[in-house]
Amino acid sequence: MISQNTIQEILSRIDIIDVIGEFVKLKKRGANYLGNCPFHNEKTPSFTVSPSKEIYKCFGCGKSGNTISFVMEHEKYNYVEALKWLANKYGVEVEETFVSQEQKEQFQTADSLFIINSFAEKFFIDQLFHTDEGRDIGLSYFKERGFREGIIEKFRLGYAPEGRTVFTDEALTRQYNKELLLKTGLIAERGGQLQDNYRGRVIFPIHNNSGKVIGFGARILKTNEKAPKYINTPENELYVKSKILYGSYFARTAIDKADECLLVEGYTDVVSLHQAGIENVVASGGTSLTVDQLRLVKKYTNNLTIIYDGDSAGVKAAVRGLDLALEEGLNVKLVLIPDGEDPDSYVNKVGASAFTSFVQTNKKDFILFQLELSLKDIGADPVKKSELVNKIAESISRVNKVEDFTKQQDYIKQSSHLLGIDEAGLNALVNKYIRDRLTVQERKLSAATPDKETAAKGEAGNFDDTTFDMLFKDQLQERELARILLEYGHRSWEGQTLIADYIFNEIDELDIEDKEVSVLVHAVKELLKSRPELFNDKYFIYHEDKALSTFVISLLNHPYEESKKWVDKAGQNMGYQTSLFQQGYDAFVRTVADGNEEELNQYKLISEDKTKDIIISAIRYLKLKKIKRMLLQNQQDMELDKKFEKFAELHFIHRSLKDMEREIAEQLGTVILK
Ligand code: UTP
Ligand code: MN
Repeated sequence: MISQNTIQEILSRIDIIDVIGEFVKLKKRGANYLGNCPFHNEKTPSFTVSPSKEIYKCFGCGKSGNTISFVMEHEKYNYVEALKWLANKYGVEVEETFVSQEQKEQFQTADSLFIINSFAEKFFIDQLFHTDEGRDIGLSYFKERGFREGIIEKFRLGYAPEGRTVFTDEALTRQYNKELLLKTGLIAERGGQLQDNYRGRVIFPIHNNSGKVIGFGARILKTNEKAPKYINTPENELYVKSKILYGSYFARTAIDKADECLLVEGYTDVVSLHQAGIENVVASGGTSLTVDQLRLVKKYTNNLTIIYDGDSAGVKAAVRGLDLALEEGLNVKLVLIPDGEDPDSYVNKVGASAFTSFVQTNKKDFILFQLELSLKDIGADPVKKSELVNKIAESISRVNKVEDFTKQQDYIKQSSHLLGIDEAGLNALVNKYIRDRLTVQERKLSAATPDKETAAKGEAGNFDDTTFDMLFKDQLQERELARILLEYGHRSWEGQTLIADYIFNEIDELDIEDKEVSVLVHAVKELLKSRPELFNDKYFIYHEDKALSTFVISLLNHPYEESKKWVDKAGQNMGYQTSLFQQGYDAFVRTVADGNEEELNQYKLISEDKTKDIIISAIRYLKLKKIKRMLLQNQQDMELDKKFEKFAELHFIHRSLKDMEREIAEQLGTVILK
């Protein structure tokens, strides 16, 4: 939706060192920069940034990517948000295209809602601190609850006065649009009159992950009223309840650091825990968790700990659908706060460290928790019990993917004990669920890739080690060609055509078996047709198709050219692929560690001299493979068609193919044919 021109403009201005340098302290080491990885905890730096390739890689945790993916990963932005962030940093004006009228209106509405919400947030804060009513009623309420001013300011809490139209008047004076005001839920229309929707309530603004206000929760102050305890923003362009976790803006860095997200029910739980210094906490708003909310958590951590009060009806709501969390690969634990307390009151009562240790010692696995809860419900009903056994077995079978075997065995042991059933029996049932799912998956798999299977059979009769080895080598070979295409494709071949065009002339796209390589080849071809001027060694690093750019980065990441050994070997022909990853990697790490720029450049030089050889050899390899396939097909035809004339013709083809095969094999300088 951001125009191609804008993207190019942004790409031309970004400097990976400059961007990453905003978040990571980088030191120059040889041709690269080195720093402490922002994605995992480390004391000795292994986070490497290559300004020439415009990519980064952490040799500790393995994370790698380009400038845009760094911003996405670090700030948890999507692609467009990351581009906008970069555009803002470099002062590039963002031009949007392909936006339908409907989308445009939606954006405009959203923008306007942000503006009104932000105005309202300030208005409520102002009321809280700077009016008598606000101070006497709102602020004193918060203080009674134990909220100190620092935390009130941090969460931008406010107060909506009792008067019927205090906010409405102010908003209309400022000429905010009536329809939009109604949409925000800040104003309501009653009997033809516009009036404030939140009156005599304290206000909890709800922020998105960039800190912008998307809605409000307004809590009543008096008890025993018929009015609802909270009035929340109605669903609109900004406020989509199923995707909101209250407090995520304030919690995200803490969640990253702790590698754990605490989930509570209410606004006040979040605020109090923050005040106590426990900041990796968000609230779901008391309803059952949605997949979108779980995904939000998963952006930061795999460890979700749900902390609810013991007698809350919300517990059951929250655990409903949590099987989904298991599938998402989340590690879910539950803690119940005892004696009618909730996290807010409990942390105020016992203090932060007692709270934390209570949580750590009372965390229960979600599966076992669910089991205990259900057991209480079903009583002695045998039908319900059998249903429960099946349900638990299914849940446990899903753990398989996520956690280790002992963990699963542990579940089986504990659950069978709780259920009062035979452990071996439960084990068998779990295995049955695993098997059932595997069969379904296998069926799907074989339905999806019949050609690969038959291809493998055609080449070697069945899928033995040799075949596997060959496929693996083919894959490396194809990937090597893809890497060459990326790195050198935009240069010219002997001063004539582009290297990319040379390659495309020599090979047939259809001969490429590796799916990712063939997607890339196709994309390069398309680009050369439509916007050849954009093609350079960086273009695909920044491709919008994330799968493609990730693949490209993984190709470029292996620092082939820095490996002297590899280059020497490449000169000696085939067989060079197998160890090049490790050797290249080792050499690179060493070079980076030594900071020896000269040595690095030397490797580079050798490599560029050899580029042509490598291209030719890679192309030959693919050709050879094609000939082998044709030979095989021909052989099968000969077996089927024994009529003399036809046989003679086929035999002639066979001989020609054999000749070509030998020729190429000789050029490759190796005997790879049996
Ligand atoms: P609680 O009743 O526990 O509210 O509801 P709370 O925020 O902890 O408030 P205190 O401590 O009693 O003052 C938990 C959450 O459920 C949602 C809100 O998100 C609330 O924070 N809720 C509750 C509503 O949306 N509407 C309601 O009427 C009640
Ligand atoms: Mn509460």
